[in-house]
Amino acid sequence: MTPEYVEDFATAYDRFWAPYPLRMGAAWLAFHARVAPDAQRSLLDVGCGTGIVAEQFCAAGYEVVGLDVSAAMLARARERLAPAADRVTLLRADATNFAIPRPVAFALSTYDIPNHLGGLDRVRGYLRSVHRAVLPGGWLGFDLCTLRGLRSDLAPVSRDDDTVSVAVNRGPLDPATDRRPLHVSGTVRDAAGGHVPFKTTITNTAYPIADILAALADTGWTDAYVAALDDLGTPVHDGEQRDRVAVIARRRDHPHEG
Ligand SMILES: C[S@@+](CC[C@H](N)C(=O)[O-])C[C@H]1O[C@@H](n2cnc3c(N)ncnc32)[C@H](O)[C@@H]1O
Repeated sequence: MTPEYVEDFATAYDRFWAPYPLRMGAAWLAFHARVAPDAQRSLLDVGCGTGIVAEQFCAAGYEVVGLDVSAAMLARARERLAPAADRVTLLRADATNFAIPRPVAFALSTYDIPNHLGGLDRVRGYLRSVHRAVLPGGWLGFDLCTLRGLRSDLAPVSRDDDTVSVAVNRGPLDPATDRRPLHVSGTVRDAAGGHVPFKTTITNTAYPIADILAALADTGWTDAYVAALDDLGTPVHDGEQRDRVAVIARRRDHPHEG
């Protein structure tokens, strides 16, 4: 598959998109410390991008496996995580079908990873692969752009600094598939002072939350619930009224385990 996160967009992403993963990384770290204080500190970050969240978990003493399909995003993750290289494994793989060498206590995806996968069958592949990668009793967390979030209007955004400029426009939503393209273009200054253009389209797919919860059950996850992004421990029932929600589930191979 062709990665949508192409070389120079990775630079722009890292420069301008960091606030949300930083906020969510801190929230998920606190969540895991609270629900599993005695668990192994091991994280699988699926769709790890440039390693923004992985870095936060490394700093908290976790061993981290970061997985992404984009070589450009992984290259930046490798740079960022170099100081913790002995505790980090980075893998280039498709989130819908992968295996990792050792299971982890916590699997996490931030910034709409299921929305990037292009359909519920592929989301099921992701959930199945992650289930195999998590220890019995372990946890899964991810965020999700809802149908409402994908349908909502987003004003065109443009950002720039001395080296990077980027513009983002949402294309029309296809009501038959609930897919919507995000057109991203810009320039990055190279070592010679020239401005190298880049252009990419990222397609997001939204799913009814009930379908995501059913897919979790189909793939062996239990105790699944939907939460608000700022309160990951409390189930909410109005997820479809929010633009983005968190989804939490657990792998319980042993029904009587605490
Ligand atoms: C919005 S970025 C989020 C990156 C990171 N999680 C963060 O919060 O900064 C989405 C990431 O998902 C990755 N991605 C998209 N489809 C993927 C797939 N099928 N398998 C693995 N990674 C994928 C992209 O390459 C990109 O790095």
